Amino acid sequence: MIEGLNFLKYLQLDLSFISKSKIAIPLALSIIFDLGAILHRFFKTKQKPDLSIPLNSLKKGYAIIPFSSSGNVDDLFNDLKCFDLQSESYKQQFSIKDHIEVGYSSFKYKNVFVVRNQNIPEQLKEFIPYFSAVNSIALDILKKVEKDLGMQSSELTKMTADQPLPSAEYSTSLLRLFAYKPSTDEVVADAHEDLGLLTVIPISEVPSLEIYDYEQSTWINLEKMGVGSQAIILVGRTLEKLTHGKYQAATHRVVGSVHPRYSIVYQLRAEPHIKISKEMNVAEWLALVKKNLHSVNGSY
Ligand SMILES: [Fe+2]
Repeated sequence: MIEGLNFLKYLQLDLSFISKSKIAIPLALSIIFDLGAILHRFFKTKQKPDLSIPLNSLKKGYAIIPFSSSGNVDDLFNDLKCFDLQSESYKQQFSIKDHIEVGYSSFKYKNVFVVRNQNIPEQLKEFIPYFSAVNSIALDILKKVEKDLGMQSSELTKMTADQPLPSAEYSTSLLRLFAYKPSTDEVVADAHEDLGLLTVIPISEVPSLEIYDYEQSTWINLEKMGVGSQAIILVGRTLEKLTHGKYQAATHRVVGSVHPRYSIVYQLRAEPHIKISKEMNVAEWLALVKKNLHSVNGSY
């Protein structure tokens, strides 16, 4: 509050009314607190650290980046756990018939809730601001890829939605909230490449995400390589196509664990109407890719 008062003095505002009226005191305090909050947000935005991305690693399909600036991810994992602990009949209220890329779905190895608009259960509301925050991080990375390849500014980023999370209609990009069930089976999500531009995955406390290293011909457990305040970035097929293979899509899978595993997976996708080649737009090209692709529990 002292800082707020000093700031008002700095602005040469007349504070004498505070001592003249009892009614004015709560009003003045409220103004000071509001101003403090606005200033805090303003300076926080101004001081946003430059995101350092190991692009040489990303060219091979993946990178591990610092993620502590994107809010309290631990709270999000707890919210996801809280939703998953609800009864199956409660969760089924949020399933959309014949549609597994939105709302709640249950599979052999996992339950998943896909966020694609703001109409989500109360327990998951914090994922609405997270969607925008993680979208902005993915766009920052995409800008670095544009620069790295000498592309025009916005050549890739302009392919994404202006409004990342609509209130009612479905977004193109997806936020998948996974709750993997304990399993002794070796693999619980088969090897695949994501379809989008980039995927952002905060490191889970149960390390089960593996990527195939084509140079060493072996699987690498990415989550064992990172720490809790970091996130994994995966290159998707659309980015591989748009960069003519200079950034390779990451082949990855999830192995079984005896512990339940929660994972928060954001996939930034290009808008369907955008031209990806002379002949095709993104939607047509993806339909072609999906024809020859093995899906993982019906999703990609
Ligand atoms: Fe994936």
